[in-house]
Amino acid sequence: MNLIAPSLLSANFLNLEDDIEMVNRSEADWFHCDVMDGRFVPNISFGIPVVQAIKKKAQKPLDVHLMIVEPEKYFEAFAKAGADIITFHYEACNHIHRAVQQIKALGIHAGVVLNPHTPVAVLEDILADLDLVLLMSVNPGFGGQKFIERTYEKIRKLRLMITEQNATALIEVDGGVNTQNAKALFEAGADVLVAGNAVFKSENPMETIRLIKHAV
Ligand code: DX5
Ligand code: ZN
Repeated sequence: MNLIAPSLLSANFLNLEDDIEMVNRSEADWFHCDVMDGRFVPNISFGIPVVQAIKKKAQKPLDVHLMIVEPEKYFEAFAKAGADIITFHYEACNHIHRAVQQIKALGIHAGVVLNPHTPVAVLEDILADLDLVLLMSVNPGFGGQKFIERTYEKIRKLRLMITEQNATALIEVDGGVNTQNAKALFEAGADVLVAGNAVFKSENPMETIRLIKHAV
């Protein structure tokens, strides 16, 4: 599957509606919403009321990436705000299995995120329960960082695990994705590419979305 999820972290917060409409009109598949708490990551972005506002205009699913400590406290609030997918960090949660079931009980899709230093092997016994695995290809916290090359190997390993287990989880990659590396990422086995800066700081965001989505 070749999906693209533009990250609104790099959108124009003074006129979010224009950027949301652009994504609606584009070939993008999901809206990626980066929630940061200044504790799990060294940055603060936006939270529940902003996700709720985005939902009012977005005509595609909201993929909400929680970079927060104690994420399970907020699943319900983000689901009510309009999240269609919630992903939370492996590194921020001691009870992944329970947390995944909590998200699914809210009637939405659940995914686990791995930081660059966390091996994909930690997901072996939970993979079958996941709708999505998000591999960070930068250290979370900021847009516009350099892609970590090691990620290709992680994608290949995870793809193998998914095939071996006959699992259905999608592989999403987040951080430093652009029109140059999109093809190699899809070829390595990624299903969904998140792109912030590459889309919103480009001359022609709709065309950049198209180029990333059809990179193969
Ligand atoms: C980073 C966020 C990303 C970020 C990606 O912490 O999770 O979603 O917006 O931005 P780019 O594509 O600019 O690296
Ligand atoms: Zn993200």
